[in-house]
Amino acid sequence: MTRHFLRDDDVTPVEQARILDEAARLKGERFAARPLEGPRSVALVFDKPTLRTQLSFSAGVSELGGYPVVVDGSMAQIGVRESIPDCARVLGRQVAAIVWRTFDQSRIEEMARYAGVPVVNALTDQFHPCQILADLLTITEHRGRLAGLTAAYVGDAANNMAHSYLLGFATAGMHLRVGGPNVAQADPEVVRRAHEIAATTGGSITLTDDPRAAVDAAQVVITDTWVSMGQEGESATRKGSDSPFAPYAVDADLLSYAADDAIVLHCLPAYRGFEISAEVIDGPASVVFDEAENRLHAQKALLAFLLEQS
Ligand code: NVA
Repeated sequence: MTRHFLRDDDVTPVEQARILDEAARLKGERFAARPLEGPRSVALVFDKPTLRTQLSFSAGVSELGGYPVVVDGSMAQIGVRESIPDCARVLGRQVAAIVWRTFDQSRIEEMARYAGVPVVNALTDQFHPCQILADLLTITEHRGRLAGLTAAYVGDAANNMAHSYLLGFATAGMHLRVGGPNVAQADPEVVRRAHEIAATTGGSITLTDDPRAAVDAAQVVITDTWVSMGQEGESATRKGSDSPFAPYAVDADLLSYAADDAIVLHCLPAYRGFEISAEVIDGPASVVFDEAENRLHAQKALLAFLLEQS
């Protein structure tokens, strides 16, 4: 059976832990796994802007012995010039795996149905599961464990990062609090599934519109942009002077409610003075550049896992 990673709950808790262990090993021994030796190619397709994802997958595929083929989504026009099933079959005949950043989750699900090789979600409107693996690796490095830790994600509580934290952190057995003005708009299926997973891992999920309650004594504090890719038209209301997200900005005041030794994560790109203050993201609690580096190690382990399982 071909294994895909389209959302965070496509791996079990045991598999997630295994991927994270391998990521830590590959961070120490950069060229210890060469499943793409040959080299076999991996298609990296981007329908939205990218810096970290293109870089980390390109470097990662190379380090695994393979060859990254970057496909510009605006040239390929998947689903416009050609149907998604036709594109999936063309790509799947030529590469060992497909990594795709696109818009609606239904597009990548359709790709996975027809590709015949592992398909990896490199961000959709609904999920960003590769980022969560990097975050979990980073938290493990700084706190020595995942299960039982309390994390707060505040800001846009209904975006791709919120959904992926819900599923991915529940899988890791963490206690996650999601705080935002739009928390009621988080996908109910994802919230239900996160509760279901947490019940099996010893984790828990709390949704709140109170920013202080969200971060209260949290050991990990996380935020993300208030304007995700594709939402640029809403920038004025989301980032304006009366932004509904303003009370959730991670600044020194909000961070003072977290645990004294709390670490701060942000998937980047960050907008200082909006969802996070310069003082916090450039300060001692911030681990954002460890987090950015860990995309490389986590994704290498993920690709190795999917190729081995498929
Ligand atoms: N929520 C953000 C994440 C960027 C990595 C976006 O979708 O633009």
